[in-house]
Amino acid sequence: RRFATNFGRVTLVVAITATGAFLYVTQSEAHPGTQLEQDPTKPTLVVLGSGWGATSFLKNLDTDEFNVVVISPRNYFLFTPLLPSVTVGTLEARSLIQPTRFITRHKKRAVQVYEAEAQDVDPIKKTVTFQDISEIKGTTASVTVPYDYLVYAVGCENQTFGIKGVTEYACFLKELTDADKIRQKLMDCIETAAFKDQSQEEIDRLMHMVVVGGGPTGVEYAGELHDFLIDDLKKWYPEVADRLRITLIEALPNVLPAFSKQLIQYTESTFRENKIDVLTRTMVKDVKEQSVVVQDANKEIREIPYGLLVWATGNTSRPITRNLMNKLPGAQNVRRGLVVDDYLNMTGADQVYCLGDCTATQYAPTAQVASQQGQYLAQVFNKLGQKSKFERDLAAARATGTAEPAEIESLVKKLNRVAKVNPFHYSHQGSLAYIGSEKAIADLPLFNGNVASGGGAAYLFWRSAYVSTLYSIRNRTLVMADWIKVKLFGRDVSRA
Ligand code: FAD
Ligand code: NAI
Repeated sequence: RRFATNFGRVTLVVAITATGAFLYVTQSEAHPGTQLEQDPTKPTLVVLGSGWGATSFLKNLDTDEFNVVVISPRNYFLFTPLLPSVTVGTLEARSLIQPTRFITRHKKRAVQVYEAEAQDVDPIKKTVTFQDISEIKGTTASVTVPYDYLVYAVGCENQTFGIKGVTEYACFLKELTDADKIRQKLMDCIETAAFKDQSQEEIDRLMHMVVVGGGPTGVEYAGELHDFLIDDLKKWYPEVADRLRITLIEALPNVLPAFSKQLIQYTESTFRENKIDVLTRTMVKDVKEQSVVVQDANKEIREIPYGLLVWATGNTSRPITRNLMNKLPGAQNVRRGLVVDDYLNMTGADQVYCLGDCTATQYAPTAQVASQQGQYLAQVFNKLGQKSKFERDLAAARATGTAEPAEIESLVKKLNRVAKVNPFHYSHQGSLAYIGSEKAIADLPLFNGNVASGGGAAYLFWRSAYVSTLYSIRNRTLVMADWIKVKLFGRDVSRA
C-alpha cells in the first residue's frame, strides 16, 4: 500500500510492502492528488491550444470556479526556444515536451482534455466544434460544445507567401515533428552523398543545406547545423563532411532585424568565420524539388541547388482564425491576427479572450509575450472566480438575516477588490539567440537601457536562462542530461 502527501512540488510517500515500510520523497508530477469533480453549476471555460499562451494560462488558473475543457491537436506543451537543437540531435525531442494532462491533473478541479482540432468557433451561439484529426478515430469524430468563456490561443502557422513548391519540398521548423523530419532528411542527404560512386555535382547538391529566412529561427538552425558539422560530421563522415555548405537567404539587408545593430554585425561576422554564407537582399521566388530560384541583391534571377531546404519566414494566421475574423468583419479587420483590447477581450465578441501569436497587437509574436498574457489572463479569471464566490457568500449572508454588518461590509470590500481588473502590461525580459560554436547573442533591458552582449558569456547565460524556464524539473533533468551526453559521446548520427 502507498500513502502520498504533496508539499508543493515534492511528494512524501510511505510505501508498505511485505518486506517492510519505506519512506521516500518524489516529485509531485508523478503522483497527482485527488481532484474535485466538474460541477454543472459552474461556468464552462473552453481553452483552445496547448502552447505557450494556453499552458501559461492553465498553469496559473484556479480551476475551482470553472469547468475547464482544453482542446488541442497536440496533447503536450512544446518548449520552442530549444527546438532548433533537436534538428541535429543536440537535444532529444521528448526532453522539451510536457504532457498537457500532467499539467491539468494537478489542478484543483478536474479538467477535460481532448486531443482534437477546433474547426469552428461560433461567437454568436458561443460554441466550438472540434474534430479528432489523429489516425485512429472512434465512433464520434466531430463534436460541438457550448462555452461560457473561450480562451483562444491556437498560435499561427508557417508563412509561405504563396510561393510555389514551399509546402511540397521545404521543411518547416515549428513543431516537434518538423525538427524530427529535418534530422531524418539531413542524415539522408549525408548518407546519400556518401553513397558509392556518387557524382561530384550530386555530392555538392546533397551537401548544400539552405535556410530561407534570417529571423531568429533561421539563424539558430544555421548555428546548430554548423556545430553538427564541426563536432560530429567531420569525425563520422570524413569523406563528405568538407563538402557541407550552409547558406542562409534573407530578403532584407541584414539578418535578425529585431536585434541591436551591434549584435547583427556580431552574428554576421561569426557566420563568416564559420563559413556560413549569408545572402542578404536575396528573395526566394520559387522552390523546386532540388533548387530554389532567387532574385539576388543585383535583381538577377538565379537558381541555387540544395539537398535540404529549411523554410523559416515567419508566421501567418491559421484558417480557423481567418474564419473567425470573417464572422465579425466590422470588428476584426486586421489581416495579421485577431484584434483584442487591453484586457485581451476579442473585439466584437462576447466572453472570448485571445492571446499569443494569433493576435494582432503591438507586441512581437514571442513565447515571452504569450506566456505573460497567459499569466495575466489567469489572474483575470481567478478574480472572476473569486467574485462569484464572494457574491454567493454575500447573498447567503444577507439571506440568513443574522449576519453581522461588519461581515457584510468585509464581503462587499472583497467583492469590490476583485471586481477591479487592470489592463495587460508586458514586461520585456530581453531577447536571446544561439548562433553556433558556443556563442549566443543577448539584448537585455538593464540599467534603464539596453545591454547587448555576444559570445561565450552570452551562451552560458542563454543556456541557464532557458534551463530555468523549462516547464518542469523533469524537462530540466532531461535537457541537462542531453547536453552532458553530447559532450561525452557526441551527437547520434543514426537515421533511426
Ligand atoms: P503556440 O505555442 O504555437 O501554441 C498554439 C497551440 O494551439 C498548439 O498547442 C497547437 O497545437 C494548438 N492549435 C493549433 N491549431 C489549433 C486548433 N485548430 N484548435 C485547437 N488548438 C490548436 N519565442 C521567444 O520568446 N523566445 C524564443 O527563444 C523563441 N524561440 C522559438 C524557436 C522556434 C523554433 C519557434 C518556431 C518559435 C520560437 N519562439 C520564441 C516563438 C514562440 O514559440 C511563439 O511566439 C509561441 O509559441 C506563441 O505561443 P502561442 O501559445 O500563441 O502559440
Ligand atoms: P521572422 O518573421 O522573425 O523572420 C523571417 C525572415 O524571413 C524575415 O527576416 C524576412 O525578411 C525573411 N523572408 C521572408 N520571406 C522571404 C523570402 N521569400 N526570401 C528570403 N527571406 C524571406 O520569423 P522567425 O524567425 O520564424 O520568428 C518568428 C517569431 O518567433 C518572431 O517573433 C521571433 O522573434 C520569434 N522567435 C524568437 C526566437 C528567439 O528569441 N531566440 C527564436 C525563434 C523565433
